[in-house]
Amino acid sequence: MRFHFLFLLPLLGQSLALLQPNYTSSAGVSIYNPGNFFPATGPWSLMSHAGENLYIAGMRGIDPATNTLLPVGLPRIRQAFKNMAALAGMVGVDLKDCVRVVVYTTDMFRYRPMCNQVQIELWGDDPNTYPPRTIIEVGRLNEDDIVEVEGTFYAPRLGKREGYC
Ligand SMILES: *[C@@H]1O[C@H](CO)[C@@H](O)[C@H](O)[C@H]1NC(C)=O
Repeated sequence: MRFHFLFLLPLLGQSLALLQPNYTSSAGVSIYNPGNFFPATGPWSLMSHAGENLYIAGMRGIDPATNTLLPVGLPRIRQAFKNMAALAGMVGVDLKDCVRVVVYTTDMFRYRPMCNQVQIELWGDDPNTYPPRTIIEVGRLNEDDIVEVEGTFYAPRLGKREGYC
C-alpha cells in the first residue's frame, strides 16, 4: 500500500503541473495560449487539442523570452522548430510524437538545407524517426520572415511522460 502511494506521487505532481486549456468547446476541442509563451499576434491561438491530436500553429523563430525574432538563418530556423517542440512539451508530447510537419519558406534554395540541418539536430540522426514533411516555397510570410513550421502531433493522453501508463 505504502509502496503504491510513493509510486503515484511523481505522477500526481506531473498532472498538477500540466498546462490547462484556455477554453474547451462543447465537442471537446481545447484551445491553448500558454501564459509563459509569446502571445498570438492576432485572432488565432498557439495550439489546440482534439481527440487524439495536437495541432500547433505555424511557428517562427521568435524567442519566447524576449518576444523578438532571432537573427536570419540557422538561429531563427532552429528557434521556430524549438518553439513547436516547446509547445508540444507543455502538454507532454515530444518531437518523436510528431505525425506531420509542414514548412513554409520564402527561399527554398537557401533555407531548405538549414531546415534539414535543424531537423537532424532536434530529431537526432536516426532517419527512422523523422516525421513526414511537406516543404513549400511561398511569396511572403508574416513580418517578411523566412521560415514558418507547422506541426501535428499524436497526443491520445495529455501529460504522458516516461513511465506513465
Ligand atoms: C489563457 O491565455 C492567456 C494569454 O492570452 C494566459 O495568460 C492565461 O494564463 C491563459 N489562461 C489559462 C486558464 O490557461
